[in-house]
Amino acid sequence: MSRKNLNIGLFGFGCVGYGLYEVLQKTPGLKANIKRICIKDKNKQRQIPSEHFTFDKDEILFDEEINTVVELIDDADAAFEIVKAALQNGKAVVTANKKMIAEHFAELLQLQRQHNVPLLYEAACCASIPIIRNLEEYYDNDLLESIEGIVNGSTNYILTKTAEENISYEEALKDAQQKGYAETNPVLDTGGFDAKYKLLILIAHAFGVITKPEEIYNLGIDKLGELELNYAREKGLKIKLVAYSEKTENGKINAFVLPKFVHKNDKLFSVDDVFNGIKTKSYFSDTQFFSGKGAGAYPTASAVVSDISALSYDYRYEYKKLNQIETLASDATIILKVFLRHDLEYGHEFKRYFEEINECYLNYESGFIVGTISLKHLKEIAGRKNAATSIVLFEIVKRDGIPTAIGETVKRKHLGRLSNLVSN
Ligand SMILES: NC(=O)c1ccc[n+]([C@@H]2O[C@H](COP(=O)([O-])OP(=O)(O)OC[C@H]3O[C@@H](n4cnc5c(N)ncnc54)[C@H](OP(=O)(O)O)[C@@H]3O)[C@@H](O)[C@H]2O)c1
Repeated sequence: MSRKNLNIGLFGFGCVGYGLYEVLQKTPGLKANIKRICIKDKNKQRQIPSEHFTFDKDEILFDEEINTVVELIDDADAAFEIVKAALQNGKAVVTANKKMIAEHFAELLQLQRQHNVPLLYEAACCASIPIIRNLEEYYDNDLLESIEGIVNGSTNYILTKTAEENISYEEALKDAQQKGYAETNPVLDTGGFDAKYKLLILIAHAFGVITKPEEIYNLGIDKLGELELNYAREKGLKIKLVAYSEKTENGKINAFVLPKFVHKNDKLFSVDDVFNGIKTKSYFSDTQFFSGKGAGAYPTASAVVSDISALSYDYRYEYKKLNQIETLASDATIILKVFLRHDLEYGHEFKRYFEEINECYLNYESGFIVGTISLKHLKEIAGRKNAATSIVLFEIVKRDGIPTAIGETVKRKHLGRLSNLVSN
């Protein structure tokens, strides 16, 4: 199959943009040339001569010789305007901007169809891990049951530091910021929003469901405190920020981002520092695990280059699974076992929300409850102001009102019937 020559207009020359420039210099097999780079700040020193740059986006968007736009800027709203105009002008687009994709997923899909041009975004989910194309191609036919992962490098770095070096959350966050892993305003990472944007993209490719960011529940790591960190240490567990989604027996999707206690037998246990890890579970191939660097100039640029290479062979996402499943499941039907820390005076009140309580503890200022509770009630408690709550997930104990162990048995029976059909 012959390869297309790609003439690239690049937006952004920061961490990933410059990384891409370098990686492309070292990838001569790829017939991809950066014709022009659009940036914003006229006073910044650049590593390459000024004739490569423009401050006028139209010099790229309306250049007929440029057939590919690579968008690597840090402003999601401006990025959407650029990507939209590029697609409307018939240019293929590669982007790494998960916030922009998550906020405009349906519209971006429509633009791709309307103008018959591809939009690729492997770098937007876990940087160097090739998860989107695997979900699109490899898991095309296999019956995917769930996808679970550590998808945000900076929170994973903070959690690793607090666990291994016994330092406070604030110190670890400062360290992450100094190393450039976290934003100056870190709430997108620490509040679990970045993880949610990635989960939204993964859900579209894993299960064919298009959601909006506000429909997926996210709790971050910014409220974690000593009680739960000590609890994890004492029990040999680690706390990880986990993005999770699964298909239920009635064809709905459960999805959330929550801090989770991870046991040492879990593959995610050893995913530390800025690494990301993703587990997929499916009927036939069972559990699989991907890990790799989830951030950084070169790991992210490598995914961008992979998309550029794919474009040179006219690759595009086909979104084959879209509309197979209708919606997200109701919060009331998913029951979780959690650790809930609360201010002293709220303990009595919060207990009433639990279906079952396994453990309780109180000291002079706060306490915790370990027990089972619906996602609906969990959201209500977490939304309460001044209650100083922190929540860490153990596991899902019921879905669709059915205990998970029974659900698994039913599923395996169904699987047995499927394999009988195959052998017959
Ligand atoms: N860094 C990572 O590890 C990583 C990993 C995965 C995905 N991503 C995604 O990759 C994208 C880029 O991240 P980054 O870390 O490279 O950001 P960055 O280092 O902050 O660089 C941002 C670049 O965007 C340019 N820019 C901002 N607004 C612009 C506009 N309106 N028009 C033209 N250029 C504009 C800036 O121009 P000036 O140079 O003139 O200021 C700068 O060159 C983001 O969407 C991010 O979420 C990053």
